[in-house]
Amino acid sequence: MKILSIETSCDETAIAIIDTEGEFPACTFTILANQTLTQIEMHKQYGGVFPMVAKREHARTLVPLLKNVLKEAGLYKVSSRHVLESPLRKEFAHMLEREPELYAQFISEIPNWNPPNIDMIAVTSGPGLEPALWVGINFAKALSLVWKIPVLPINHMEGHMLTPLLETTDGGMRFGNINFPVLGLLVSGGHTELILMKEWGAYELLGETKDDAVGEAFDKVARILGLPYPGGPEIARLALLGTPGKFTLPRPMLHAQNFDFSFSGLKTAVLYLTKDLGTLSDEQKQDIARDFEDACAEVLTHKTRRAAEEYGAETIVVGGGVSANMRLREVLTTTMRETNPEILVSFPGASLSTDNALMIAVAAATRQKHSRQKNVLYRKTTRYFF
Ligand code: KG4
Ligand code: ZN
Repeated sequence: MKILSIETSCDETAIAIIDTEGEFPACTFTILANQTLTQIEMHKQYGGVFPMVAKREHARTLVPLLKNVLKEAGLYKVSSRHVLESPLRKEFAHMLEREPELYAQFISEIPNWNPPNIDMIAVTSGPGLEPALWVGINFAKALSLVWKIPVLPINHMEGHMLTPLLETTDGGMRFGNINFPVLGLLVSGGHTELILMKEWGAYELLGETKDDAVGEAFDKVARILGLPYPGGPEIARLALLGTPGKFTLPRPMLHAQNFDFSFSGLKTAVLYLTKDLGTLSDEQKQDIARDFEDACAEVLTHKTRRAAEEYGAETIVVGGGVSANMRLREVLTTTMRETNPEILVSFPGASLSTDNALMIAVAAATRQKHSRQKNVLYRKTTRYFF
């Protein structure tokens, strides 16, 4: 089964095509194409993602990106131009009325392509920035109409949750041997959550941030220290040069008896500290970055370990942009190795930590294959991802 996936929830425009074969969960995912266009440079001047710029950029780049992806997958073929009948044209105009540039490109390009041999279109339907999400959703719907292929809405966080469970094979990916329950620590620019996955497709939210997401805190602290967006990799780079323990920032909610988080106070503590210190030397910036990163890694690790113990998790997965953070990887892995060596800790491959479309295709395949095989009505059995 070939799946085309579209991801536009934030500041990456991403499209992938996978071919999945075999019985779930022992199926293989062959990557036919996978491309991501980042808008980081456009958002740098705002110090964060500016939703209307994100929307405009998705609308501008989706059609050319799709063309490149189809070419990469060997599925791009120009047909003799066939004119769209006017009822269909009207429907597209209505569907894409908020994205005039996308509509213009769609109408002039897509009808000239042969409908590709694809069985399903998967699109991120949330969570994310509303204006950005809608561009991808409307694009998917319009493609579905012209190519007569069904669309499956996919939860972005489910993509982040499933990618660390993948192992790479020759030319593709497959799920490793997974022991349930799986505990997911999902850490991104918009989310910080602990999710329990008792079996395929069954998710329970154990705790989440009460204010800022941890990625958001990285981005805000970076701004305070005069570093560009996105702050995560910048803070990590600086922290490598810092000395641990030179500053002692708070570890918010470390000992709270729940699985919730809070990162806004930590960010404010950095703000006050920098105000007290006045002009910062490079060394001070490095030491602040180091303790901030240590504070995040410590709180995330502590809560994850406690949740894993309380819920008897056999596997821990970490997903979302902040899972790229090497300090978090190191602290969580070493802590778990020392305290609970029987629990497997898994992180996504380097390019799958931050937003991408492969994870959306894999989530769609999982949903499709699993619901078919076990005849499970996901809407009834999942409490979280719909
Ligand atoms: O999952 P993601 O790509 O987008 C959202 O769904 O939000 O996550 C983006 C977040 C940003 O806040 C970024 O600063 C953070 O992930 N990030 C990192 C690192 N790389 C990206 N945070 C800490 N360390 C990193 N190496
Ligand atoms: Zn994400």
